[in-house]
Amino acid sequence: MTVREILKMGDARLLRVAQPVTAFDTDDLHLLITDLLDTMRAADGAGLAAPQIGVDLQVVIFGSGEPNPRYPQAPVVPRTVLINPVLTPVPDAQGVLLEEEGWEGCLSVPGLRGVVPRYQSLRYQGFDPYGDPIDRTVHGFHARVVQHECDHLMGVLYPMRVRDFSRFGYTSVLFPGLDAQDD
Ligand code: NI
Repeated sequence: MTVREILKMGDARLLRVAQPVTAFDTDDLHLLITDLLDTMRAADGAGLAAPQIGVDLQVVIFGSGEPNPRYPQAPVVPRTVLINPVLTPVPDAQGVLLEEEGWEGCLSVPGLRGVVPRYQSLRYQGFDPYGDPIDRTVHGFHARVVQHECDHLMGVLYPMRVRDFSRFGYTSVLFPGLDAQDD
């Protein structure tokens, strides 16, 4: 078990566009994923992207299959390892790409939360660690988590997507009852 240091906003490594994974089911890739899972679990994260531990690869993990103490109201998202993701927003029956607002935090931006608009419905495609394809269409919180994590692969942190800074601030002030540790 290796809990890695999580880089914080301001570190230039968080601003890189990550490289695609070219070899699946390798020892190096499995080790990276174990470290990501251990680090996410230790921090009670909803997700974690490889760039957040300084690894310049298109690998994200998210979900735990059980309720998250940092987001107690959020629906349960299945534990997923997603590699080389491609995201496609899904329009509604009228052909409209709907956005919805929701609170986000980030382990690279500890102690803060902000309201971020995201696509409500999303198709995501990619690969698992063995190179088997993943292709899911999801909505709401699940879609939000995927968009947040995949943003990390493009060097985008959620504060860059905040439109209304009157809804951005310290978790301890915004949500005084929430047991959110240091984040
Ligand atoms: Ni994040």
